[in-house]
Order: sequence, then structure tokens, then C-alpha cells
Amino acid sequence: MASSTDPRHLIGLLLGTEDDWPTAFEALVRRLGPVIDASGTSHSFDVERITIEPFDLRDKPRYELVIDRLAYWYHVPRKWLKKVALMDDVYLLNSPFTFQAMEKHAAYCAMIRLGLKVPNTTLVPYKNPIDHDKYVYTAARYNKPFDLDAVAGRVGYPLFMKPYDGGAWRGVSRIRNNSELHQAYDESGEMLMHLQASVEGYDVFARSLSIGAETMVMRFRPELPMHDRYAVDHAFLTPELGDEVVTIGRLVNAFFRWEFNSCETLVRGPDVHPIDYANACPDVAVTSLHYYFPWAMKALIKWSVFCLATGRRPRIDLDTRRYFEIADRDDLSYDDKLAAYRKLADEYFDTERYADFCASRLPDLDEIMLEWIAGPDFERLLTDTVRTTYPPVEKDRFQSHFRGLLGAWVTDEQRRLSPG
Ligand SMILES: Nc1ncnc2c1ncn2[C@@H]1O[C@H](COP(=O)(O)OP(=O)(O)O)[C@@H](O)[C@H]1O
Ligand SMILES: [Mg+2]
Repeated sequence: MASSTDPRHLIGLLLGTEDDWPTAFEALVRRLGPVIDASGTSHSFDVERITIEPFDLRDKPRYELVIDRLAYWYHVPRKWLKKVALMDDVYLLNSPFTFQAMEKHAAYCAMIRLGLKVPNTTLVPYKNPIDHDKYVYTAARYNKPFDLDAVAGRVGYPLFMKPYDGGAWRGVSRIRNNSELHQAYDESGEMLMHLQASVEGYDVFARSLSIGAETMVMRFRPELPMHDRYAVDHAFLTPELGDEVVTIGRLVNAFFRWEFNSCETLVRGPDVHPIDYANACPDVAVTSLHYYFPWAMKALIKWSVFCLATGRRPRIDLDTRRYFEIADRDDLSYDDKLAAYRKLADEYFDTERYADFCASRLPDLDEIMLEWIAGPDFERLLTDTVRTTYPPVEKDRFQSHFRGLLGAWVTDEQRRLSPG
């Protein structure tokens, strides 16, 4: 029996233009109902979309956990997130302290220090003067002239030129020779760029999406349009390589306290090369994830509920020393180090306790998800999403495309839940 002292937890969603996954998330949390923890306490969950308004720095927020897809470009909610992280212990996916101070460049640095196979990467100073009144004097005095061709020669062709903070392929180019190099550098303007050796002829592009203690590794085809980039393929990596990709993602996420992130890896032969490990609060639209959308919604719900019902505390302090102590040992092989990192990462994410919690406290979620995806509410959501995402002439094609993929998920899931 629920009593009046049983906790009610409010989950806030910080959103921009998307409407599909928030609608799914809200509907599923409603269907899930109260969750009874191991001590018999009943936890109820409400979901609310957060609005942007003035806030007193001493206000107490009503939210206990916030999933953020907005603050990466909008500064008002970003400032609010900093306030609630520092003052109110609100649990954030993700905290601005980790994802704004740390970007792709920081992830490369950490991964190289940890001994991972990041391609050779060099940062080059800005092409154009930056807009600051001290720049001209400072640059004239301290910027050392450099030979761009020689720098690129050391990295080796072909190479990628791309912004240090990256995202959505902005400013990324593949460069084969000196003339392409100079053209791309001239066009980089005020963007700060890396030159990175290209991983040529890789076998597969593995993109993994991590939500808390769970990771889904998907075969990615960056050359295709958004709706076709994730292939439905369950065995494109050997179990060992699959595990290595999961470990590297979990490691980087635990290292930086990123709890909602996607990671990009190029696998060539036996080697896993991380190239883009800082995509905090990634796109989880049904039109991008399709077959994997139910997995992502479940993982978001499970992680949110686990954090709130078990009173998991947000941690914004990094624990770099423990990782570096492993990294700096000469007696450990690459595989030994990965195994040791995996332990630390699983400890940070409390992976075992999370799995127990999901099995014992959320036993019905799989069925709830299956019923919802197979039912009329999801059909309506898909129709609305397709209508607002694609031009009218393409509507029917996309509707059947996604319906087919989610239909395949329903069939696979039915088989998984009741084999035979
Ligand atoms: N070192 C590399 N080797 C091969 N391909 C690369 C490399 N770096 C980037 N790419 C290609 O360029 C794309 C964009 O680069 P990425 O670092 O992921 O930038 P963004 O942060 O904009 O996604 C990648 O998805 C991949 O296809
Ligand atoms: Mg990328």
C-alpha cells in the first residue's frame, strides 16, 4: 500500500525542438507506475517539460533529475543547470561541469593518456585573428610561425581536419594533399582545428550509445542520410571487439562523468580506434534510432528510476588519479589495462547493482514497452513525427520505412520474451 510519505520524484526534461522521444518517455513512465524498492518503499515518478524563465539563485528546484537536450546551445538553461548542480544536488544527464569543460579535444587527451589507439592528432592555432582587443599584440609577440605542410606531413596523409570541439560534422574535411590542406585551413577561419590521421580502410564504424550503465553498440554508416545511418545488425563485431568498444565507451564516460553520450569508433582488423567520444546528450529521435529507439527509451527510464529510487548522488568531481595509476604502469598490457579500467568504470556506474535493480524492481518494463510500441499510441506518435520531419511527398515512404523497422523490433522482442 502506498502511503502519504512515499516519495514522489519529479523528472524534468530540457528540450529544444524534439517532441517524439519526450512523448514516448512521458507515456512510458506513466504506464510504469510506482516502483517498489528493496525496502518496500513505493516511489512514484512524474515527468515535466522545463520552461525557461527568470530564476532566483536561492530558489529550490522541484526537479530531482533532469535530462538535458538543450543547454548545449542555449545558455539560460545552462546557467540554471550549473545552479541546480552546485546548490541543489539535482541529478543531471549530463552535468554542464563535465560536458562544457570537456570536449572532443579533452577526450582525445584523456584517451591517449590512458593508452587507447587514438589516431595521431595535432592541434593547430587559428587561421584568422580572433576577435579580442589583445589578440594582435599577443599574437605578434608570442605566436610562433609554423609550417603547416610540415605539421601535416608529420600527421600523414590522408588526414582529417576538424574542430577541436566537433559536432554534427561542422567544419570536418578529409584532406589528401597540400593544396587541399591549405584550402581547408583558409576556410577554417576562427575555428580551432585538429589535424588527425585518417583511419583508412576500416572494416566497420561502430557507434555506441551509452545511457548510465548500459551501452548499445550499433553499426554506423556515416555516408548515408540520417534515417539510414544505423544499420540493424546484431553480429557485426566479434564478441571480443564488441566488448572492447563497450569498455572504451564506459571508460570515457566514467572518467568524465558523462552518463548520456555517444562514442564513435573505427574498427580495423584487431584494432579499435576511438575518433569521437564526446557527443553528450545525443540525438535519440525515433527517426534516427528507429529499431534501437525502444532500447534507448527503456535505458533512459531505467537509469532515471534507478538513480532516484536508490538515492544515487550526482558526482561532478573527477577521479582521474585512479585511472592514471593504471595507465602509467609498465607491467600491464593494453588488454590488462582495459580490464582494470572496466572495473573502475563499472564501479562508477554501479553496473551490478543497476542490473539487479532492473531485474527485481522493473520486471514489467519490457512488456510495457512491447505493448506500447505495438499499440495505437506509438503509431500516432510515429505518424506525427514523420509528418513534422519530412516533406509531404516523402511522408508515405518514411512512414512505411520506420513502421517496418519497428515492426521488426516487435517481432524480435516477442521472440526474446517468449521463446519457442
Ligand atoms: N581519423 C579519422 N579517420 C577516418 N574517418 C574519420 C576520422 N575522423 C573523422 N572521420 C570521419 O569524419 C566524420 C566526422 O568526424 P567526427 O570527429 O566524428 O566529427 P563530429 O564531431 O562533427 O561528428 C566521422 O564520422 C568519420 O566518418
Ligand atoms: Mg562524430
